[in-house]
Amino acid sequence: MKSRFLAVAAALSLASAGALAMSADERVATQCATCHGDKGQSVSPLFPSLAGQNPEYMVKQLNDFKSGKRKSETMTPQVAELTPEEIAALAAWFAAQPTKQHRVSDEDLLAVGRYIYRKGNSWSGVPACADCHGADGHGTTTLPRLAGQNSRYLLTQLKEFNQRTRTNDNQAMHLVASRLTEMEAKAVADYLSQMP
Ligand code: HEC
Ligand code: HEC
Repeated sequence: MKSRFLAVAAALSLASAGALAMSADERVATQCATCHGDKGQSVSPLFPSLAGQNPEYMVKQLNDFKSGKRKSETMTPQVAELTPEEIAALAAWFAAQPTKQHRVSDEDLLAVGRYIYRKGNSWSGVPACADCHGADGHGTTTLPRLAGQNSRYLLTQLKEFNQRTRTNDNQAMHLVASRLTEMEAKAVADYLSQMP
């Protein structure tokens, strides 16, 4: 009886560190999984997959949703009550999930996408994506992983950078997105979605 009481007391004092903080497992299962999937593979191509995403990048995005620097009617209420500790734990949880490649059937479009990703378009001034995002598309602490992401989500983000509805990128992506044709944007998004 006494040892059971002690165990409960210990559990309570751990939980009190973050008031009503939930573990990342619980939070994902009861909240994030609805859209981002129970293992970080999103349930719709409109939502980003988060499996294998860089944790530092995710922390920045979650803080930007919280401060309003990145606008999203969907994500703003999702982050409202997250503590900095929970944000870090959620980012680490998603980063540790296995990634997935998508299948793309149009080989010709894929070749255009590969060219844009690796070399850009020097005739219209599009820089090579790989210059910043890395040859493998796995990103860095400040850059998102793009490899294996949903093509539809990537296209939407490119459009939002171009229209400046997404502005938390310090303009790096604005110039890039404004110079891509629709075909190039679709091609590079498809190419990224099938990268390992
Ligand atoms: C109702 C659906 C929904 C739920 C629930 C949800 N999200 Fe999201 N999430 C989205 C959408 C949509 C976006 C894309 C936002 C945009 O740019 O418009 C997004 C974007 C993100 C991003 C940025 C990804 C990137 O590549 O930039 C992160 C990180 C994220 N969500 C984490 C979470 C976490 C953690 C939870 C749970 C606490 C959560 N989301 C719950 C729909 C949802
Ligand atoms: C000068 C460096 C630079 C170049 C070149 C660049 N990017 Fe980016 N990109 C960034 C940065 C920085 C971010 C992260 C912005 C943030 O913190 O929200 C980003 C973010 C993105 C995102 C958002 C991902 C997400 O998960 O929401 C997409 C999509 C993207 N880049 C695609 C591309 C493509 C496609 C190209 C090539 C045509 C490209 N980028 C070239 C710097 C660059």
